[in-house]
Amino acid sequence: MVSNTVKLLGVSGSLRNLRHGKGSDILVEEINQIHTREHLIEYLSSQAQICLSSFIEAGRKDNKSFDKILKNLKRLPGVNGLSNSEVLLVAGLWAAKQNNVEIEHVSLSDIFGNEKNAKEKIYSFLNKIKEANGILVSGPVYFGDRGSLTHDFLQLLRVNSKLVKDKVFAGITVGAKRNGGQETTLIYQMLDFINIGMLAVGNDAESTAQYGGTGHAGDVGDIAKDYYGINTAIGTGNRISNVLKMINSTKDTALKKKPKIGIIVLQDKNNKVLNYVKKTIINSYLSKVADFRLLYLVNESIKSCIACDICPTEVDDDRIYRCIIKSKKDVFSSIHEEMIDFDAILIGGFSPENYESLKSVYQKFMERTRYLRRSDYLLSNYLVVPLIFKDVNSRENLETRIITSMIRHHTIIYSPIIFNELDNRLINFEKAIGDLEQFVEMAKKIAVGRIKYNATALEYEHYNPVGYTLSSAKDKDFTTIQKRKTAMNKRRVRFKQMLTRRVIYNG
Ligand SMILES: Cc1cc2nc3c(=O)[nH]c(=O)nc-3n(C[C@H](O)[C@H](O)[C@H](O)COP(=O)(O)O)c2cc1C
Repeated sequence: MVSNTVKLLGVSGSLRNLRHGKGSDILVEEINQIHTREHLIEYLSSQAQICLSSFIEAGRKDNKSFDKILKNLKRLPGVNGLSNSEVLLVAGLWAAKQNNVEIEHVSLSDIFGNEKNAKEKIYSFLNKIKEANGILVSGPVYFGDRGSLTHDFLQLLRVNSKLVKDKVFAGITVGAKRNGGQETTLIYQMLDFINIGMLAVGNDAESTAQYGGTGHAGDVGDIAKDYYGINTAIGTGNRISNVLKMINSTKDTALKKKPKIGIIVLQDKNNKVLNYVKKTIINSYLSKVADFRLLYLVNESIKSCIACDICPTEVDDDRIYRCIIKSKKDVFSSIHEEMIDFDAILIGGFSPENYESLKSVYQKFMERTRYLRRSDYLLSNYLVVPLIFKDVNSRENLETRIITSMIRHHTIIYSPIIFNELDNRLINFEKAIGDLEQFVEMAKKIAVGRIKYNATALEYEHYNPVGYTLSSAKDKDFTTIQKRKTAMNKRRVRFKQMLTRRVIYNG
């Protein structure tokens, strides 16, 4: 029997936090009492206002210095008000709660902020982490990166990584400037959390399907006016909770056959990757556990995206290739069907120190996937992992770029699999193969979850053209809406058939 309880732990990385101690439990109770978005906005606004008045009362009105104000704030019982990044954490947790996910809240300042009972606090925190299925971290941007509390949290997990292995991570950040580093912070922390074994997701399709929640607020209480930021935080809570539920739904099920895993190679030098992939993956014992499909695109022609105002050209069945570029010489139309039929994707290639004789279609490939994203997230919930054969001296950051581009396809990101090469020899073969084996296990699970989700729970992962006026207008067109509904139904039917054909129930 599948347990329906899925737990999301919300972690506040704010140094200016107002909730601490029993304030965390009270906060969860308060969130549980909010049932509409309007009520949420009202609540967030009043909590931000309380934050501002507490700050004034704690000494700003008497022109006290900030260290004194902070001391006074910390003396408060911690049951009222929310700092900027706390506000967005609540927005994310509220969305998760609306999706029937159980929520918990911890303020990192309670754990790392003072010496008193430090060991006991850490012990109880680790237990909470152990019980949680996913972690949602919200904190301020400090110097374009996380603050020290979030960093302490990461350090704690780095030495307790077993507790979070294969669990899901998502992030929210708030910065004083419009582009003060919200995205860099989200990206750095996402990379760090996946590198301790977690899976990462961003925010949902209803918001912007990017790296997570991005708030714009500097002064105490400012965040209440940032509706865009609140929306991305709600989107992050939605995204992580839906993925948690999807994974939980796979407990008593399995794929009947091996998962179909696409290996998309976009960069190579003298066929190194081609040979490595054939030898170490396709023609190895690994082919017993997965059905690997190689898309070696290095020698293919890929034209640049021409940035159409209306993309894709038509709203239609997922199986139909709908990018405007139809040239026979261009490889996309011939790989489209295969690509949307994978269960998971390994994507990358060779990353060199010396670029001489490197062939790369990487950037063109990536920009051309735009039509897949805009076809209501055709790659939604694919498990994606960068697969890099890397000269140890390479400084290309290919794995990071793959992650930051592919997460926008509403995917689930797995820690990069990197084969390091030195003097034409792979020097970490065992480790990388071990990572690959673990990835295959996760791919099986996510594949079942994705099939079940698309067959039974798929609502409407509608591409929301934020920033594109022309597309927005076309999207509201009556026939477009009807066509989208039909296309979505066809997607559902395709996955229903897949569910019968490919998934078994063990329970
Ligand atoms: C040490 C420090 C560094 C900061 N660095 C940045 C920054 O790089 N970019 C930015 O937009 N805001 C920066 N800020 C502003 C905070 O991110 C912002 O005030 C945020 O709302 C604080 O969230 P909180 O109230 O939840 O703690 C910085 C603030 C401090 C104290």
